[in-house]
Amino acid sequence: MSGVITTNVAEIGDKTVEKGVGKDTKKNAPLIHGGQLNKIAAQYAIPIEQWLDLSTGIAPVSYPIPAIPAEVWQRLPQPSDALQKAACDYYQTEHLLAIPGSQVIIQQLPHIAAQQGYGSSRVWLPKVGYQEHRKAWQGADYTVLFYQDIKELKHLDQQDIVVLINPNNPSGTVYCYKQVEQLFSHIEQKNGLLIIDEAFMDCSPQDSFIRQVTSEQLIVLRSVGKFFGLAGVRLGFVAASVNWLKLFAAHLGPWSINGPAQYIAQQALTNKTWQTQQAKFLRTQSLQLAKLLQKTFKQTPKGTALFQTIQCEQAEMVFEQLCLQGVYVRLCDDKQALRFGIPLSKELLRLQLALESIVMSNLNSG
Ligand SMILES: Cc1ncc(COP(=O)(O)O)c(C=O)c1O
Repeated sequence: MSGVITTNVAEIGDKTVEKGVGKDTKKNAPLIHGGQLNKIAAQYAIPIEQWLDLSTGIAPVSYPIPAIPAEVWQRLPQPSDALQKAACDYYQTEHLLAIPGSQVIIQQLPHIAAQQGYGSSRVWLPKVGYQEHRKAWQGADYTVLFYQDIKELKHLDQQDIVVLINPNNPSGTVYCYKQVEQLFSHIEQKNGLLIIDEAFMDCSPQDSFIRQVTSEQLIVLRSVGKFFGLAGVRLGFVAASVNWLKLFAAHLGPWSINGPAQYIAQQALTNKTWQTQQAKFLRTQSLQLAKLLQKTFKQTPKGTALFQTIQCEQAEMVFEQLCLQGVYVRLCDDKQALRFGIPLSKELLRLQLALESIVMSNLNSG
């Protein structure tokens, strides 16, 4: 019946397994993400300009947009050698393809993987994580299993696919290079495929697994939007073997990266002085945010230089109370956690006052 949800749920050992089947509408429904300020502002009837928006993991300071020559807007964008060179230097690998945001590849990967012989593979996803991965694999009818920690992935089947979000958004879990190396060696033995989403990796390059992408069994996704604060230009990179890159390029077709995005990103990826300043600024602000959250919620948040996440049983109430004060954070999907984007120093003070008023009103009412 059309419109009926037909997701099968079964147990394998202690793992929940889900297989999406049919063309139900639920699979195609858009997911909730941060950054929906228009909607939230209308819902709470507070003008947009009065909000403090901490609902995303996008840096609050962006790479300064240079003057863009008219011909960059006028001409059809050709693949840019200058951008490629800048990216190879920044990401420390030559096996790169520019993409219009990593989201595009997340959506297409299940179909491309099927063409490469992984069509009947099982897919392991982190239980908490950017839900577009889950949507894509379930939407393409793969059997999807969930793990809490990569330690659970010791007994993979032949050709299993593992998706790792490192650092994880929104949980803030980070696996170091050695841990990923061990996981990858197991996946290789099983002729499987490891897909690592490193959208939030810029401030911890020592943990990046990107330098291993000569293998056919590894694909790494990077986003330019987060660290450079340029989510609007829609640019990212996929790192993989030459074969995979050819397939991705064929799927994207011509002119997929617009000219202004190429022009801006080529400069941003080359500007080491700005990158060092930005990393230092984000680390400092993130630490300040973590201290505030620790003090308010009496627990250590988990996160990265681009966001901090706190577990909280009353997450929905805190979210609501913050919204009433014009502060928009991300209520995580399980409604048991809140993710805070990085505030500027003056914004941190506003956040502090808003959190204090919630604590006070609960003390008074309790
Ligand atoms: C973990 C993760 N990966 C990928 C993306 C997609 O980002 P983009 O398409 O801007 O590269 C997001 C967006 O929020 C994300 O949180």
